[in-house]
Amino acid sequence: MQKILITGGAGYIGSHVTKELLKRGDYEITIVDNLSTGFAETIERIKQFYGDVDFIKLDLSDWDEVNKLLGQKKFDAIIHFAAALVVPESVENPLKYYLNNTANTANLIKAAVESGVGKFIFSSTAAVYGEPETIPATGITEKDETSPINPYGHSKLMSEQVLADSAKAYDGFNYVALRYFNVAGADIGGKIGQSTKNATHLIKVAAETALGKRDKMYIFGDDYPTADGTCIRDYIHVDDLSLAHLEALDYLDDHESDVFNVGYGQGYSVKEVIDTMKRVSGNDFTVEITGRRAGDPAMLIANSQKLQKATNWKPKYDNLELICKTALEWEKNL
Ligand SMILES: NC(=O)c1ccc[n+]([C@@H]2O[C@H](COP(=O)([O-])OP(=O)(O)OC[C@H]3O[C@@H](n4cnc5c(N)ncnc54)[C@H](O)[C@@H]3O)[C@@H](O)[C@H]2O)c1
Repeated sequence: MQKILITGGAGYIGSHVTKELLKRGDYEITIVDNLSTGFAETIERIKQFYGDVDFIKLDLSDWDEVNKLLGQKKFDAIIHFAAALVVPESVENPLKYYLNNTANTANLIKAAVESGVGKFIFSSTAAVYGEPETIPATGITEKDETSPINPYGHSKLMSEQVLADSAKAYDGFNYVALRYFNVAGADIGGKIGQSTKNATHLIKVAAETALGKRDKMYIFGDDYPTADGTCIRDYIHVDDLSLAHLEALDYLDDHESDVFNVGYGQGYSVKEVIDTMKRVSGNDFTVEITGRRAGDPAMLIANSQKLQKATNWKPKYDNLELICKTALEWEKNL
C-alpha cells in the first residue's frame, strides 16, 4: 500500500487523478488543498462515489505545517497539482505565481527530500514552450526549446529546474514532470468534473454557453495561419491525463527522473471545438469574433511518443465529441 500525498486534490485535475488511484486501489491517499479554486464538495463526491481519502485543509504557504505533515506521515509519493493557473492574472500579479507555484513547490520538495519521499509527480504545462515559431506536424517534443512568455509558464519551468537539481543532488529523490496540453472533459463515470469558477478554458466556456449560462462566447482572432484562421490546440480528456499520472508513479519504481509531454498529438481549431459543442448540445449559440489575445501561439500540439514508449500509457478517450459531451453533462450539474 503506497502512501500518497495529493496537493490540490479538490481541484479539477487532482480530483480526477484521485479517482483513478482509488479505482486502481492499493493507495492510502491524503489530500491537502486550501480550497482557493477547489471545492470541499468535490472531496465529498470522491468519498461518496470512489472511496475514502484523508482531507486536510492546508495552504502550502504554511511551510511549518507542510514540513510537520510530511515529517509525520512519511509519504511514498507526492502528486503536486496545487498552483495558480490563470495566465493573464500571472502577468498582472507575477509574485502570486512565483510564490504559490515556485516558492511553495521548492518548500514542498525540501520537505519531501527531508522526509524521504522517493517519488514526486509534478503538474507542468505546455506553457513552458512559450510561443514556438514553427511546430512540426508531429508536434512539440520535450527536446524542443523551452521559452515561456508569461510568469505562469516561468513559474512552472523554474519548479522543473528545482526538481531536476534536487534529483541530481539528493539520492533517492526522483520526479516525473508531466507537461499537460489542453485538459478538458469530465469523469467518464459522470460523478466529478470541472467546477472552476470564471473558467477561461475553451471547452468549459463552450459548455457554459451551450447551456445558456453565458449569452455568447468569443473567438480570439480568426486571422491565424491555420486552415480556418483560428488557433489549434491539443485537447486531452482529463481521464486519459489522469491515467498518465498512475503510469508515472509506476515508472519511478525502476527509472530515474524524467519529463514527459501529455497530449494526443492531434489538434483541433477553436472553430472545430465550438462546432462540436454546438452539435453535441443541439444548441446553435452565439459566437463573436474578436481580436487576438497576446501570447496565443497559432498552434500547439504535443508529441507524446516519449511517454508512450517509456510507459504503458495509451490514449483511450481521444475523441473530441466525447470530450465535449462529458464536459457538457458535468456542466448541467453546476
Ligand atoms: N487545466 C489545465 O488545462 C492545465 C494545463 C496545464 C497544467 N495544468 C496544471 O495542473 C494543475 C491542476 O490544475 P487544475 O486545472 O486542476 O486547477 P484547479 O484550480 O482546479 O486546481 C488547483 C487546486 O490547487 C489548490 N491550491 C492552489 N494553491 C494552493 C495552495 N497554496 N495550497 C493548497 N492548495 C492550493 C486549489 O484550491 C485547487 O483545488 C496546476 O498545477 C496547473 O498548473 C493545468
